[in-house]
Amino acid sequence: MRVIICENYDEMSKEGAKIVASQITLKPDSILGLATGSTPIGLYKNLIELNKNKEIDFSCVKSFNLDEYYPISRENDQSYFYFMNDNLFNHVNIDKNNTHVPNGETKNAEEECKNYDKMIDKAGGIDLQILGIGQNGHIAFNEPDKNLITGTHVTSLTQNTIEANSRFFNDISEVPTKALTMGIGSIMKAKKIIILINGENKHAALKELLNENITTDIPATLLKVHPDVVLICDKAAYYGK
Ligand code: PGA
Repeated sequence: MRVIICENYDEMSKEGAKIVASQITLKPDSILGLATGSTPIGLYKNLIELNKNKEIDFSCVKSFNLDEYYPISRENDQSYFYFMNDNLFNHVNIDKNNTHVPNGETKNAEEECKNYDKMIDKAGGIDLQILGIGQNGHIAFNEPDKNLITGTHVTSLTQNTIEANSRFFNDISEVPTKALTMGIGSIMKAKKIIILINGENKHAALKELLNENITTDIPATLLKVHPDVVLICDKAAYYGK
């Protein structure tokens, strides 16, 4: 795992965007794996700027998001469907038909998960996966557990994740307790992965990722066996101050 330590959040976002931009330049029909949360917002802002300046072209890009709350309406401004349109898709020349977020409105979650994996496979697999990390070491909504699941599945959020995500909701009782998430296998199949980590509150998770052996109690440690991972972090996350 290559580690890039940046001065601050803005620099981290720029570094991440540079890698995404190179990916799209080298392979205009790239399949991107996208993440939500506060971490990648700066990276998406940089991509929007690069697209405006005609330095990158999204017209042939396809995307698959990592996860979505379940159940949730796509009109809910806390849904990841809404987030992606708001923070990226509405502002770049991507064909919305080529963007995919697990459907939190589905009546048949199992079928939705199976189809999601099939769609990723049919598209040719993810070329570049963007990841964040939870304070508890989760990647996507693969929460610490004795067992981790390979493919896209329905999962229950841990109390820690519900509390961390409650900052986006009016009240903690509004945070959905379940989600549809890509599994560890789907993430590990990506050809290249970048994981962005910023802020002092992620210091412990970052140190665990770097220093602990592989364990399902810290799902991000599984990334250690992937051949092409770049960790991009800011000083606050790396040094904890
Ligand atoms: P955050 O979430 O970017 O909002 O910190 C990351 C995560 O939980 O994976």
